[in-house]
Amino acid sequence: MAERRLAAAGVDTPRVDAEWLVAHLLGTTRSGLAGRLGDEVDGLEPLLVRREAREPLAYVLGEWGFRRLTLKTDARALVPRPETETLVERALAVAEEIERPRILDVGVGSGAIALALKDERPDARVTGIDVSADALALARENAERLGLDVELRQGDGAEAAAEGWDVVVANPPYVESLADVQPELRWEPAVALAGRGEHERLARAARARFVVFEVGDGQAQEVAEMLGRLGCGGVAITADLTGRGRVVEGRLP
Ligand SMILES: C[S@@+](CC[C@H](N)C(=O)[O-])C[C@H]1O[C@@H](n2cnc3c(N)ncnc32)[C@H](O)[C@@H]1O
Repeated sequence: MAERRLAAAGVDTPRVDAEWLVAHLLGTTRSGLAGRLGDEVDGLEPLLVRREAREPLAYVLGEWGFRRLTLKTDARALVPRPETETLVERALAVAEEIERPRILDVGVGSGAIALALKDERPDARVTGIDVSADALALARENAERLGLDVELRQGDGAEAAAEGWDVVVANPPYVESLADVQPELRWEPAVALAGRGEHERLARAARARFVVFEVGDGQAQEVAEMLGRLGCGGVAITADLTGRGRVVEGRLP
């Protein structure tokens, strides 16, 4: 029933989403459901209605996995994406040889990147900055829940990037037009999605040894060339788990 309703609402992965919702209510995992998808489950109806309205699954569940962490997720900030886990991996790699690296996460959102970096590199001094007070409030809740000590502040990322860091990481807004996006994106803050030229603005402003950026599908080559033009060394593109180049890094001159 749940699967059919989500399919009718146009959800891409109706069975998986129905399993997530039911597992969440039963306090189990999807693999622990063992054929209980068809059961009557208390509390399912309001969650189904929200997902039928194409609210992102992570908002409906209220939490979402990212690297080793479970983050609180709601409409105050972007849902952490799997490709962003690749950015964390590259940031950890470039910072590997640096003692107590100072890392700035521009556009901290839910805190996903900053908190994962602190979790996996406890000696790092991690700062997250965002223009959105709502996003920062969520990031603070996540930091407290997880007991991870990161500095969180409000302001413009490019200004903060100029302060001097070992590594500046960013998953900036890079969707050029929100006109034809899938319905789920309309629930996410526009300030987190819509943007153009943010990678270059940040790369020009940054005073850092390394920058590591997430880019939109199809933008990697252009951003890599831009870093080359700015005189960066070691410019590299890393593909996400689906084989698309989504993370671009470089060593600033
Ligand atoms: C694509 S979201 C990334 C959120 C989070 N880092 C992640 O990967 O899930 C971009 C974030 O950048 C923030 N933002 C937009 N413009 C900004 C600016 N000029 N300075 C700092 N943050 C900015 C948005 O509020 C949003 O939280």
